[in-house]
Amino acid sequence: MTRRALMKTGVAAAAFAGMGSIPALLSAQSARENRLAIPPLDPGEMIGGKRVYNLGLQTGTTEFFKGFHTPTMGINGAYLGPVLRMKRGEMVQINVQNGIGTESTLHWHGFNLPAAADGGPHQVIGAGETWSPEFEVREQASTMWYHSHLMGKTAAQVWAGLAGMVIVDDDAQAVDLPSQYGVDDIPVVLQDRRFLLNGTMPYDPNMHDRMAGMQGNYPVINGTISPFVDVTTQRVRLRLLNGSNASIYNLQFRDGRSFQMVASDGGLLTEPASLTALRIAPGERAEIVVDFSDGRPALLESVAGESGGMGGGMGMGGGGMMGGGMMNEQSPVFELLELRPAADLAGSPAVPARLADLAAPDASQAVRTRQFLLEMGMGMRMMMGGSFSINGDEMDMKVINHVVKKDEVEIWEIGNTGPMLHPFHVHNTQFRILDRSGMPPPAHETGLKDTVLVEPGEIVRILVKFEHYTDDKRPYMYHCHILEHEDGGMMGQFTVV
Ligand code: C2O
Ligand code: CU
Ligand code: CU
Repeated sequence: MTRRALMKTGVAAAAFAGMGSIPALLSAQSARENRLAIPPLDPGEMIGGKRVYNLGLQTGTTEFFKGFHTPTMGINGAYLGPVLRMKRGEMVQINVQNGIGTESTLHWHGFNLPAAADGGPHQVIGAGETWSPEFEVREQASTMWYHSHLMGKTAAQVWAGLAGMVIVDDDAQAVDLPSQYGVDDIPVVLQDRRFLLNGTMPYDPNMHDRMAGMQGNYPVINGTISPFVDVTTQRVRLRLLNGSNASIYNLQFRDGRSFQMVASDGGLLTEPASLTALRIAPGERAEIVVDFSDGRPALLESVAGESGGMGGGMGMGGGGMMGGGMMNEQSPVFELLELRPAADLAGSPAVPARLADLAAPDASQAVRTRQFLLEMGMGMRMMMGGSFSINGDEMDMKVINHVVKKDEVEIWEIGNTGPMLHPFHVHNTQFRILDRSGMPPPAHETGLKDTVLVEPGEIVRILVKFEHYTDDKRPYMYHCHILEHEDGGMMGQFTVV
């Protein structure tokens, strides 16, 4: 990005954020001179047959911009956490020590696990305390993640930096994909943060942010502003995780090159999906393989969303503070990551034509259908501090909204009456998408999912099953993964019995 382009992006974003320009930061920052941070890989330690990890939640400062020491939170570091590597079939124990001086939680997003180990709003870790959940890794080879999930405070704590990636390996799925961590298998945590003139990024949502979700004026990739990464092999796997609070990225390479998507949230697709664009919402992961044998650098960017979502006009007219292009606002325009191939590239195997065996989802197995209607309170209700609900109910820690039976297959029908897109996430399962308003999902959405984006006016049907754990007291969550919506009430609870 040229200096001028950066300037323009910064100014436009700052104008959106309603805070003027940020020349001090801009002059402290030159474009794409920062090498992408690769989070430390933490394989844990085998102790007594269990793989044990020690994670410390802490506060600190991060120098996103040279000379500016931004207060942040992280796990075993000042911002974000290590990439935990675990293996299917193993027992893991994760000791989470809370050193941030206030309550927190740590949730293992994407995993099938006992409710007591889930790390949701009911597994609060008090300041100074240590929580040590254990679970068996039952997932396929995949990219998962972990993040704070404290009731009403998830958005603030994730914004500050309490999140990280998990890589699950599976010996039974020895597929020949680039797999040298940090070399040709690269974690890419996509976030955006709103920096003020003094370099801080306080979590201070205004009314508009509570409604639209808190978005940034700068993309931050693995905690790096304006990054590049060196490519040394013909093919590179990027493990993309949208770990932002609210932004939905419409990813593409500026030169239009295609890439192969090989895995969705819960693991490998049956076969690679060749794409030139990919929309990724908060909570979602996608593993893609990009070919650099042409030796040319590539710029991963996020482009504006298609307009028209507002046109559906459900409950919202044009004009006014909420009119005009909220949908576009959900998808900021950003230059995210430049990939720079070396002159000589080591050879990489071609992406296998077949990746995994996944039976097609069979809706006829379902014993019942449940409906989940995602709703945004508008007008006065919104002014009074926001109102997000599912089936008219706002999240209440004391209410179990649904009881499901272990091993029963169900159809969950997710509807969206509002003007915004909502990524709907379900704990303790990997589900399959049956259809989107009656249409079969695109190839890259046919695999295992735990988060699915639901457009305004759309009805998405998913096939879900909870096959491992029961607990009639402790619930799991389902919710919108726009964290301001989740904190604002668009969440519910279910038990598995
Ligand atoms: Cu990524 Cu309920 O969480
Ligand atoms: Cu989750
Ligand atoms: Cu939402």
